[in-house]
Amino acid sequence: MKRNRLFLSMLLVTAVGCQSAKQDEAARGSDTPQTAASVHAAHKQQRLAEVEQNVERLLAQLTLDEKISLTHANAKFSIAAIERLGIHEMWMSDGPHGVRHEIERYSWNSANWQDDQSTYLPPLTAVAASWNPEMAALHGNVLGSEARQRNKDVILGPGVNLARLPLYGRNFEYLGEDPFLAAKLVVPAVKAIQSNDVAASVKHYALNTQELNRIGVDAKPDERTLREVYLPAFEAAVKEGNTHTIMGAYNRYYGTNANQSKHLVMDILKGEWGYKGVLLTDWNVDINTFDAAMNGLDIEMGTAVDSFDDYFLAQPLKEMIEAGKVPMSVLDDKVRRVLRVQLSIGMMDKYRLSGQRNIQAHHEAARTIISEGIVLLKNEQQLLPLEQAKINNVLVLGPNADVLHSQGGGSSEVKPLYEISPLQGLKNKLGTDVNITVMRAQNSAGVAPIATDYMATRHWTGTPQWELIRYQDDGFAHIERQDDWIANSTYKASSNSPEFIRMSTDIKPLASGQHTLKLALEGQASLRINGKQVMSQQADKAQVFEQVIELDSNQTYKFELQYAGSGQVTLGWDAPGALFTPEAEYLAAAKAADVVIYYGGLSHADDREAIDRIDMKLPNGQDAVISKLLQANPNTVVFLNGGSAVEMPWADDAKAIVWGWYGGMEAGNAYADVLFGDVNPSGKMPITLPKSLQDTAPIMLDDYNAVDSLYKEGVFIGYRWFEQQKIAPLFPFGHGLSYTQFEYSDIKLSSASMQSGDTLTVTAKVTNTGARAGSEVVQLYLHDMQASVPRPDKELKGFSKIYLEPGQSGTVTMTLNQRDLSFWDVTRSDWLAEPGKYNVMLGASVADIRLNKQFDFRD
Ligand code: BGC
Repeated sequence: MKRNRLFLSMLLVTAVGCQSAKQDEAARGSDTPQTAASVHAAHKQQRLAEVEQNVERLLAQLTLDEKISLTHANAKFSIAAIERLGIHEMWMSDGPHGVRHEIERYSWNSANWQDDQSTYLPPLTAVAASWNPEMAALHGNVLGSEARQRNKDVILGPGVNLARLPLYGRNFEYLGEDPFLAAKLVVPAVKAIQSNDVAASVKHYALNTQELNRIGVDAKPDERTLREVYLPAFEAAVKEGNTHTIMGAYNRYYGTNANQSKHLVMDILKGEWGYKGVLLTDWNVDINTFDAAMNGLDIEMGTAVDSFDDYFLAQPLKEMIEAGKVPMSVLDDKVRRVLRVQLSIGMMDKYRLSGQRNIQAHHEAARTIISEGIVLLKNEQQLLPLEQAKINNVLVLGPNADVLHSQGGGSSEVKPLYEISPLQGLKNKLGTDVNITVMRAQNSAGVAPIATDYMATRHWTGTPQWELIRYQDDGFAHIERQDDWIANSTYKASSNSPEFIRMSTDIKPLASGQHTLKLALEGQASLRINGKQVMSQQADKAQVFEQVIELDSNQTYKFELQYAGSGQVTLGWDAPGALFTPEAEYLAAAKAADVVIYYGGLSHADDREAIDRIDMKLPNGQDAVISKLLQANPNTVVFLNGGSAVEMPWADDAKAIVWGWYGGMEAGNAYADVLFGDVNPSGKMPITLPKSLQDTAPIMLDDYNAVDSLYKEGVFIGYRWFEQQKIAPLFPFGHGLSYTQFEYSDIKLSSASMQSGDTLTVTAKVTNTGARAGSEVVQLYLHDMQASVPRPDKELKGFSKIYLEPGQSGTVTMTLNQRDLSFWDVTRSDWLAEPGKYNVMLGASVADIRLNKQFDFRD
């Protein structure tokens, strides 16, 4: 922390200082970066002071057509310029963890620029796992600076939807499962982005917690759940972060699209919270002109119509204004907001910062952030950190050893200058002193799907895909749904009723010769290759069928697999090309190695926007391989990537498990630093890792489907659910080990009681009792002991990360205010802190409470 603080202030001075230096040198000459920074600050202060008068000045000069042009897109990622008034096109770009590569003006295709690479930062789950607001600020500062350098005005992030469901494909883009943690981290992230003269866009407002039917699903939480769980991060971004823009969600809210919900937008966002910025839509949402106009939507983006005039907030809005159906004051309010954002970020100011991109400090920031976010889940017999001097042979296995994640995942894809894979990071660390053997394990249990290495077809999220078409019946004539896809040639029916699907992809053999196709099947399936049927089988009980075919590596083949049934089908093969090592061979190598490192988990083939995972298991039979490796060599470290929980049926047998999220461009180096002890891990889980999917609330309560999300668990999201139900998770929220140990003592409250309107300060002593320097995240959980409504056993209401040398003690300080004690009282429609006793618990995780003390709250 001390080290980071120093590095951080250096980075902020360098980055901001240099930007303003460049501007001001050009404008009026400047001596040092320090003076340049203060010159910029003075200009900015003046600019901000004049925003409102300039908004009015410009608004008064705009014609109706010009006003309308500011409320919808004029291309994929921009809204119109009004050059006669000095208003430039306003440019937006994804996304939460790096500035996206340039996309063509009128299509989703890449613009194929050669110089649009940017720093690939660790996604926000890793920031959340750092439990460090300074890391959120560092993240935001790099993002904002690079967005400016690419001439963007709005960066579409950070994302703050909560991880309610482990299957949700976008959890990796967000800040974990806890409203308080997300709220505390979004504020510095937004402020840092906007300090670079770029607008943040906090997304997706609100209740975007699944990708299954993401545009149609109707979110219907009760009001208390909405306020206490799903809104606080947005509220903090508005009230404390002063975010200039917010992006609406795809989903519906009580029957209407979230972007045009009166309750979400007019009553809460723009009413109670007094939001003065812009609400823009996600790209292509299901809205209508009147409701969207009247209920506070300001900008419409991405609608799938042929002409921009056909956007709901274009010609149709103009007509409603002219007919008097929508008052001009409503349009003026939208235009004021757009102009306010443009003026605040300096779009019309010659002193606007110009940003920097791909500078070393930004790449180092990517490494610092992931280094603080890696979580050491388990470390028995001190297997970690590994000691290089004691190791001669390392065996590396696992599907993530050499996978790069930057260009997958959906709209958050990043094109970086480079990305260090886990294997590359290991090689960088060990040089030539240690033998590193790399193998790919073929899971011999069951049929493995055809490896993605053979697949030529790509989904827009960047991952290999099998296009999936669903049909209404076994005639395969009437399409039910066309826009589905999966990454692997395994399809599992989602219910007991028969499903009829056809999946297709282009396959390019790695070597010519005999390929033994393997069709594992329960139901009826047929396979066509280049239009010719090569297999057709039926099985009432799971069975495997084989067929040998000859393929040429110079050709690409269209594979089409058709399936009818309520079970599962997998198309696999034995193919020439030696991609995999047979089981006996890799287990023998594991036995012989000093240490085995298995880099597995999820990738953006499974964990990505637009689709949820089908289960919580590690994909492609990884569990079986890990179990066998752990038996072959107990010194096997399991290192997992992923943005959402996975089941780990082998966890009891593993001595060491590390969770590395997706790590950004410096991932591999940071992973090796932790494995070899150059960095002492200090991340803590911002999500619960359940033992099984069945234990999670949406599944147990049967509240996950394509139609309605009732949020049946109410305020009991994540760990609150596990505590309420007394279900032990695999690893609890807030858990994360270190290579040293910390002792907590001397909890003190600033007062034995708290009065209405007061704050209460909680302090405690933390001592590093181990032999290494390290950081600990002390977590404050609160319990209302005499609540009149059901409240969680523990609610996170404070945290503090402290860096301590061996033997050193320090004090953590956290302050509670009345809102921290409160629940949303539906009878009064307000926050209520009830008089009575409250228990303050300080812990190293939600399940590891070390100290506690009670106080009275008096109204
Ligand atoms: C995503 C947004 C993203 C937008 C623009 C949508 O598909 O949901 O998060 O910002 O596309 O790419």
